[in-house]
Amino acid sequence: MAIVERPQVTQPSEEAPVPANRDLRLERLYTRDLVHVRAFLDRVLPVHYSASFLLHFITANDSHLLTVRDGCSGTILGVVAGRLSRSALDANAVTGHVMILAVDEHSRRLGIGTFLMRQLEFVFRSARSSLQALILQVESSNVPALTFYSSLGFHPERHLSGYYQQSGDGLLMRKSFSV
Ligand SMILES: CC(C)(COP(=O)(O)OP(=O)(O)OC[C@H]1O[C@@H](n2cnc3c(N)ncnc32)[C@H](O)[C@@H]1OP(=O)(O)O)[C@@H](O)C(=O)NCCC(=O)NCCS
Repeated sequence: MAIVERPQVTQPSEEAPVPANRDLRLERLYTRDLVHVRAFLDRVLPVHYSASFLLHFITANDSHLLTVRDGCSGTILGVVAGRLSRSALDANAVTGHVMILAVDEHSRRLGIGTFLMRQLEFVFRSARSSLQALILQVESSNVPALTFYSSLGFHPERHLSGYYQQSGDGLLMRKSFSV
């Protein structure tokens, strides 16, 4: 199968500065990196993503996956991914759904998660200026992630009973923008 790769990122947006004193490289997902990104996510997250699911972030225009790497070694330090969608009720209302976020466990609390989320928001905005909100689902018991998302301006919107088969309830969180 021929895979059409989109032009790669990317100058990081200046609105989302690189964490202080860090030599980081921001990239979109390349097909050649699929295996490495998948291995990273398998190591860091309890859920496992298929290669075909990840491939979607290379080929689909409304889906984006960004990696951040150590500028020297090239080691993957974090991954964020999401998809834009239009409201069924209002075609002008565009929402960005954050689907994956993971930072290497030895590189946390350095601002990398914040950097990735802001860069994804920038990529979403560049694609659709009418971005109205970011949404995501998170496990209700994942206190670090809840604190993290709150620090970025997300608010709990809805309790999702039994959303996660293995670990129980979830929470829908939203960050709204005025457009
Ligand atoms: C959640 C996660 C992405 C945060 O990434 P990170 O790079 O460590 O986040 P940042 O350094 O940008 O943190 C920004 C702020 O979020 C909050 N925060 C982040 N991790 C936290 C933790 N473990 N405990 C409490 N607050 C935390 C803090 O307010 C932090 O600011 P501070 O360090 O100045 O106090 C990371 O912990 C992770 O990958 N966890 C495992 C995967 C996961 O849970 N993903 C989300 C699934 S929906």
